[in-house]
Amino acid sequence: MDTIQRLTILPNEPIATVSPYLYGQFAEHLGELVYPGIWVGPDSVIPNTNGIRNDVVAALKPLHLPVLRWPGGCFADGYHWRDGIGPRAQRPMRINYWWGMAPEPNHFGTHEFIAFCRAIGTEPYFTGNVGSGSPKELGDWVEYCNSAGNSNLAEERRANGADQPFGVKFWAVGNESWGCGGWMDPEYYASLFSQFRTFMFDHSNIKVHAIACGAPDCHWDWTRRFMDALKNRFWNRQHMAQSLAAHYYCGTAGTATEYTEAQWLELLSKAAAIEGIVTGHRQIMDQFDPERKISLIIDEWGTWHPVEAGKPNSGLYQQNTIRDACVAALSFDVFNNHADKIFMANMAQLINVLQSLLLVQEDRCIKTPTYHVWDLYQPHKGATAVRCVAETEMISDGGEAKEFCRRMYLDKSGFGLRAVQGSASVKDSRLCVTACNTHPTQPVELEIRLVGAALPQAEVVRLAADDIHAHNTFDQPERVTLSAPELVEGRDRTLRVLMPAASIVRAQGALM
Ligand code: AHR
Repeated sequence: MDTIQRLTILPNEPIATVSPYLYGQFAEHLGELVYPGIWVGPDSVIPNTNGIRNDVVAALKPLHLPVLRWPGGCFADGYHWRDGIGPRAQRPMRINYWWGMAPEPNHFGTHEFIAFCRAIGTEPYFTGNVGSGSPKELGDWVEYCNSAGNSNLAEERRANGADQPFGVKFWAVGNESWGCGGWMDPEYYASLFSQFRTFMFDHSNIKVHAIACGAPDCHWDWTRRFMDALKNRFWNRQHMAQSLAAHYYCGTAGTATEYTEAQWLELLSKAAAIEGIVTGHRQIMDQFDPERKISLIIDEWGTWHPVEAGKPNSGLYQQNTIRDACVAALSFDVFNNHADKIFMANMAQLINVLQSLLLVQEDRCIKTPTYHVWDLYQPHKGATAVRCVAETEMISDGGEAKEFCRRMYLDKSGFGLRAVQGSASVKDSRLCVTACNTHPTQPVELEIRLVGAALPQAEVVRLAADDIHAHNTFDQPERVTLSAPELVEGRDRTLRVLMPAASIVRAQGALM
């Protein structure tokens, strides 16, 4: 492979505003995420504020997460929100059917979730129960959260300690309704979606943003048939859906911490194929909704490795290496480059589950390499994505996962992993370029070439590791962390940035 790779940036060719919601997160009642990842209870010896861990809040606050989806996942379609309000001692003990039949004490419910969102400065997003709930139950939850009036439900919220409405805008109508949410077909779901949606009213100027269940990965037929049914089955009901949310897990290759170089490339190729998911579903949606009034969301995404030895299978606990960080970076760069097609994306999941930002154990909390990618990519949020052309070498066609990658593209083309992939955005005349060197062993010199503008100087920050398996542990929590910023001078509209093998970089500076 050539050791010089080039990204050409065209600051005068805007794509669209990068929706801040692309950097969202997901927290399900699953394994060790909520208990004890967020909630330890007010009587715990673990430092907490009204039951919520202080270390987790302190770690998450600086990321300014735009949105947090809760309470599931599969859990959501078995969750009855009334179980989680009122005095905690009186809340019912339930069974978490989807995740190991674990006891669910309901100590973390609506009020606690809102308190957590406020503590970390994020916007709540609720997933409603369609699979085992009713339109009335979901409509009541909306009213309980959002009504400023004097209805019984608003008064009940006040009696439970919240005088002011919670102002919850984002509401999903079921989760994976094609699977754990009820094994429905798209036409049946379209009918149920409209029925449930009918009873989700706007209260106190809080407009409900209803999110319909989208497809698993490349099941194009779900998107096509749902959109068709919503538009053409007797009534056109398209106005009822504000978004459609697909799921895409790139999965694994090897295990979380043990993999060969070939498996490294295989997993990153599968991660890069999220581009096909974004373009493919949007292309189908455009056939029914050319004005893009229904936005596309990737509601769950990330790696899914075999569960760590010694942990229960149902808890989906996994370590997180520099490879997972590269998966996150590649995905964000895809989202930025397609900022005109995608509105929100929520990685799975926040703490201790799948590709998490944090791992917690007893009174300790560490940041994963993926956490640092969230930090690094912050300047893109709300900026204008501009064209970024990767004139870089193809280094993998997916290997063992070639067919998998091909399937993720509607037109079965375009897939493949480049030596360097990246994206660029502009805010207040400052350019932000992010890129991932996907090669497991080869360092590169990245040439960032500007067209129609110059970048005389840039501040460069890297996320790199001394080994492709590097990760943070409770004994070595800072092994993979961001470098100190370095100032790099540009010349002749070109900036040269060194990228170690398997690394991520951000270059930021004022455009001239
Ligand atoms: O994120 C774990 C699970 O994956 C979610 O509960 C479900 O929606 C998906 O299948």
